[in-house]
Amino acid sequence: MFFESLMVYMHKSIDKVLITEEAIRERLDTVAKQVMEDFQAEELVVVALLKGALVFAADMCRRMPVPLIIETVNVASYHGGTESSGKVKFLDAGMPDVGGKKVLVMDDILDTGLTMDAVIRELLEAGAEEVRSCVLLSKRKQRSVECEADYVAFEIDDEFVVGYGLDYQGLYRNLPYVGVLKV
Ligand code: XMP
Repeated sequence: MFFESLMVYMHKSIDKVLITEEAIRERLDTVAKQVMEDFQAEELVVVALLKGALVFAADMCRRMPVPLIIETVNVASYHGGTESSGKVKFLDAGMPDVGGKKVLVMDDILDTGLTMDAVIRELLEAGAEEVRSCVLLSKRKQRSVECEADYVAFEIDDEFVVGYGLDYQGLYRNLPYVGVLKV
């Protein structure tokens, strides 16, 4: 009962569901297969960008039956609001050990492109042999830098979304779907 009322409270804050739980499940099956075909059975380092990619990366990794190392990079660009600050801040002391490795960076959403661009540069700088990118969502918009993801699960319009790892002021990451908040 307590659990149900909490979920109702969360869902009530959502104006519309953009991508359902089922649609995410189905699409992830396809994207993970595509990644696996491209990388074959090679050892792969997945770098999940915290915190937004947590849920997406966890679900993707379990669909990727190859020798896999999971790393994280803690990075911030929104600083709690609904618009990019334009500055990417690395919150860890350094990059994970990716020297000579093939790397797949996973993020929740490609917006201005600044985050993905900065992370890819840092990973190459750290000696990665190859870096590809994979995002749950890509906003249809002009990027601030030349950066598109190699794998995109869904393209969406340029609006602020929450759920399935994406937050507003730290909340809503645990919604099983992607939705738009009530204003
Ligand atoms: P950039 O602009 O660097 O953005 O491509 C990437 C990061 O910004 C956050 N972001 C969002 N977070 N709803 C969110 O909850 C959104 O609509 C949204 N757009 C961008 C996100 O952390 C992403 O990693």
